Amino acid sequence: MTNAVFETASLAGIQLKNRIIRSATHEGMADEKSFPTEKLKNLYIRLAKGEVGAIITGYAGIQADGKSSLFAMLMIDNDDCVPAYQEITNAVHNYGTAIIMQIAHCGRQTRSKSTGLQTVAPSAIRDAFYNEDKPKELSEDEIRQIIDNFVSAIVRVKQAGFDGVQLHLAHGYLLSQFLSSHSNRRKDRWGGSTENKYRIVDEIFKKAKKRVGVYPILVKMNAYDGRRNGMRIEESVQIAQMLEKSGCAAIEVSCGVIEDGLYSMRGEKLPADAAMAYTFKYKNLPGPIKVIAIPVLKAFMKQPKPLVKYNLDAAIRIKAAVNIPVIVVGGINNIDDINTIIQNHNLDFVSMSRPFIIEPGIVSKFKNGTQTHSKCITCNYCAIIGEEKSLKCHYGKLK
Ligand SMILES: Cc1cc2nc3c(=O)[nH]c(=O)nc-3n(C[C@H](O)[C@H](O)[C@H](O)COP(=O)(O)O)c2cc1C
Repeated sequence: MTNAVFETASLAGIQLKNRIIRSATHEGMADEKSFPTEKLKNLYIRLAKGEVGAIITGYAGIQADGKSSLFAMLMIDNDDCVPAYQEITNAVHNYGTAIIMQIAHCGRQTRSKSTGLQTVAPSAIRDAFYNEDKPKELSEDEIRQIIDNFVSAIVRVKQAGFDGVQLHLAHGYLLSQFLSSHSNRRKDRWGGSTENKYRIVDEIFKKAKKRVGVYPILVKMNAYDGRRNGMRIEESVQIAQMLEKSGCAAIEVSCGVIEDGLYSMRGEKLPADAAMAYTFKYKNLPGPIKVIAIPVLKAFMKQPKPLVKYNLDAAIRIKAAVNIPVIVVGGINNIDDINTIIQNHNLDFVSMSRPFIIEPGIVSKFKNGTQTHSKCITCNYCAIIGEEKSLKCHYGKLK
């Protein structure tokens, strides 16, 4: 029997109104304590009113040195934040909508200048984008501490009333750095074979299960990243099977790392003018250099192709190898494709990020047939300007 997009569905025991999920999207709406704000709550209410199947929050940090350098990231690194998150989950549950928190450590994809701390990574290799900081290779004790902090964060997520938690294993953040031989060159039991690279994730699952019992722990993972010695589909299929063994509740399939530009959120054109105005690497360049740099960037940084449904083939391969729900994200922007993905390709759920930024109510528009395509033009200014400002759709305009 095929699944229907707009029927209620169970995602590892979480009841969803339909099969369309809001993928994790950094909102930049935390307060000075990195707690969620009223503005964030109102955004989630708009998404819930718009009949999204479930909301996955923007990534929340599990410890200070893993905090993003983007504007106003959420943190879930101490017990004091739990009541503030409870307010969020209560507000969303009032609309009968499920909410899952994504948690992360940014590893080498952050800046000492914003965290005030040394950046850390599986191996001391500079990131090609965040290359002002050479990360410190994590010691055995530090890896253990990170595992414990992920577990404590999962406990808090459950206490705060989220319906589940999602570990960020994608886009080149710390756990993704461990999984990829491009960034993990360790010779000890945390590097080398796929089993060794995966060990940190397995340990988080084992320890978390002891603390939270039966509670949905999902992941978002890279199926491939296009980096030299990086993640390839053959290995990500193996990792998906290991995740299933560890007790993972569902896998969201994504791709790419930050140093590769906008590989994981593709668009027609490079948002060079936004990058020059907002990205820490370019914004302080003298004006005349910027004028030259914009066409150079545009000429040399070609946008990867395809632009739509770029993780679908990988998700189909992962789905064929596991018996847990698989969610596909990336360039999904219209209801016909969503129907085909769910009904013909047998994937369990689709998720979208950018279509919800321009239209938080897009699911109800799809459902009642008033709109078939997202209005997003994939300018990606939302992602670039997120370095300094809260999330909003800029629709290709700087001012
Ligand atoms: C502004 C912005 C912020 C994002 N923040 C996150 C995040 O916190 N965690 C995450 O896993 N992915 C994040 N992403 C990636 C999206 O979840 C998604 O994987 C990607 O944009 C492709 O999906 P789309 O084509 O539906 O936008 C972000 C994307 C955008 C545009």
